[in-house]
Amino acid sequence: MPLPRVEYGLDGSLRRAPRSEEEQDFPREELGLAPVAVAAWGPFVFANAGPDPEPLESALGSMPAQIAELGLVVDELVFHTRWEAEIEANWKIVSENFLECYHCQVAHPAFAEVIDVSAEAYSLASDGRLSSQRGPVRADVTLEGELQRSQFHFLWPNLGVNIFAGHPNISIGPIVPLTPDRTYRFLDYFFGPDVGAAWIDDLMAFDTQVGIEDRALVEGVHRGMASGVFEHGVLMGHSEQLIGHFQQLTAAALA
Ligand SMILES: [Fe+2]
Repeated sequence: MPLPRVEYGLDGSLRRAPRSEEEQDFPREELGLAPVAVAAWGPFVFANAGPDPEPLESALGSMPAQIAELGLVVDELVFHTRWEAEIEANWKIVSENFLECYHCQVAHPAFAEVIDVSAEAYSLASDGRLSSQRGPVRADVTLEGELQRSQFHFLWPNLGVNIFAGHPNISIGPIVPLTPDRTYRFLDYFFGPDVGAAWIDDLMAFDTQVGIEDRALVEGVHRGMASGVFEHGVLMGHSEQLIGHFQQLTAAALA
């Protein structure tokens, strides 16, 4: 005979709790699961467990419009694979690394061969919680595929969205603090339904290399900051403006 179990309805309401019938005035109606707001943008499902959830459309800001303008149709994307990593660095260092490409010319030589990372061509913009980087394909490079510009979006506090120039692609995922000196990340890779396997393999290899380069950078920065020698730095007014934006939002949330 099965053991009596707690049962919830599909709407989250408590339907049954063993022995509750023996309780006087058992408040069954008040003991449902906590409601969570859920909404989708293309294949991406977002949940908000807060008491007063902001509508997803407003939370995403101009990101969907920028991505549509690039020519990427998110509704057509097909899930490919999930990449996961734990990084020996504070999540804010990982996020700040995402938010500037000042390091790209030196740290990501293969990336900088394809994308024009010069201050004149590589655009940085922030709007509310959204930080957006848009890097065109270099004028001397011919790249197959309909997307001739990369876009990298960061939705404060911790969502990264990457689109590389080329065929339809996107990778999306959070930067999750584990401890003050460890961070978990995943990126879910999606591609257009007609993108060939060879191109996908090339892009994954390319992005894996960029990821290896960034891991070395952020773990080195973390070791340096954890040494206690470092008091504060200086942000480059143009090239590191999105880090300033991130720090303002973070400081305001902590205040
Ligand atoms: Fe990087």
